[in-house]
Amino acid sequence: MSKQMKNPNLLTLKESREIIKSNLREMKRLEKIKRQKKTSEQFTTVMKSNDNVLEIEDLETFFYTDNGVVRSVNKISFDVPKNAIVGLVGESGCGKSVTSLSIMQLVQAPQGQVVGGQIRFNSDELGQNADGRDMCYDVTKMPTLDMCRIRGKDISMIFQEPMTSLNPVFTVGYQIEEVFYLNNPEATKEEARNKAIEMLTTVGIPMPETMIDYYPHQLSGGMRQRVMIAIALTGNPKLIIADEPTTALDVTIQSQILKLLKRVQADRGASVMLITHDLGVVAEMADYVVVMYAGKIVEKGTVYEIFDNPMHPYTIGIQKAKPSLASDAAEELYSIPGNVPNPINIPDECLFKGRCGKRCAGCEGKPYPKEIKITETHSVFCHLYDEEGGES
Ligand SMILES: Nc1ncnc2c1ncn2[C@@H]1O[C@H](COP(=O)(O)OP(=O)(O)OP(=O)(O)O)[C@@H](O)[C@H]1O
Ligand code: SF4
Ligand SMILES: [Mg+2]
Repeated sequence: MSKQMKNPNLLTLKESREIIKSNLREMKRLEKIKRQKKTSEQFTTVMKSNDNVLEIEDLETFFYTDNGVVRSVNKISFDVPKNAIVGLVGESGCGKSVTSLSIMQLVQAPQGQVVGGQIRFNSDELGQNADGRDMCYDVTKMPTLDMCRIRGKDISMIFQEPMTSLNPVFTVGYQIEEVFYLNNPEATKEEARNKAIEMLTTVGIPMPETMIDYYPHQLSGGMRQRVMIAIALTGNPKLIIADEPTTALDVTIQSQILKLLKRVQADRGASVMLITHDLGVVAEMADYVVVMYAGKIVEKGTVYEIFDNPMHPYTIGIQKAKPSLASDAAEELYSIPGNVPNPINIPDECLFKGRCGKRCAGCEGKPYPKEIKITETHSVFCHLYDEEGGES
């Protein structure tokens, strides 16, 4: 009888057992570190720049699955300046939501774990060190109880689907008041209700005195998303994370909600991290853009640098794939050929290699490209721009 060939895509029972065993060991170790008692010195540090509200450095967030370790966020670094909108773009599965959940300490544990790097959040309440640099929290090391003090108040999040994020059994007013009480536990009922009416007015809900007693199912999708924004703003946050805030809405409502988000951001001097795969939205809204691919950052810069001078073949590809009124109607919409690599056991090399039209000898046999600074704000990760060039 001929010996059966092993399918390289399937795990043997032995391999599967080994993965589960090693996952359990690693998850136990990481959970133990999380539970350790910490002094405030152990989860505070200093900002690289006082002009930033958030600095992410070498962040790694993994999921320990039965098929292997998924490196959803794989050593990424970027800053969110104060009073600015940073757009985080990339195709489905590239790690945008996991990045935002890591910032909120909401990654699904024990499978999901932040295993490395720093998330420095400048809450402006910790003073400065001897060199005049702002002290800040390192969210990756913060105990859950301390995180609960800043989550919702200093950092808030607007989710993609308001129907699943709002609680269907409470009125919208109650849900806004709840956040208000978190930060003002001594407030009276009347003060909380007035605040809820004020927030509904801010986000353009008509007849706020009546609507405050409505349940989420009595509101349209656009109204519900406005309520989500009202809840996110109630704590007066310094950073608002909006994860695809308009994907579930139709185009005209999308534009209203984005305008509202931009207005409240500018009025309050807050910063927004806007997650989307819609480049049109980014071009209109963002000051800075971070492009992600397969858990890595491939390019980052100001909105002008990314749109006027895209350098990474992936950034160039997604811009080409954007529908445009100027293109011929009969012309087929461009799409980047190929698929995103398997997120399990990601190799240390350029991950866009299999789909890149610019791939050359200089890309072969090399580790993941290093950050190449084009300007103070513009960086790209691609061997084409290595010192020795990509053609060697
Ligand atoms: N709970 C989980 N368990 C295992 N893997 C997960 C889990 N959550 C996310 N992942 C994996 O992490 C990777 C990044 O997922 P993420 O949700 O951040 O993508 P995304 O960029 O937000 O995509 P989309 O645009 O579709 O929302 C994906 O490969 C996904 O399969
Ligand atoms: S490193 Fe090479 S394969 Fe990767 S994106 Fe750059 S040119 Fe393409
Ligand atoms: Mg997502």
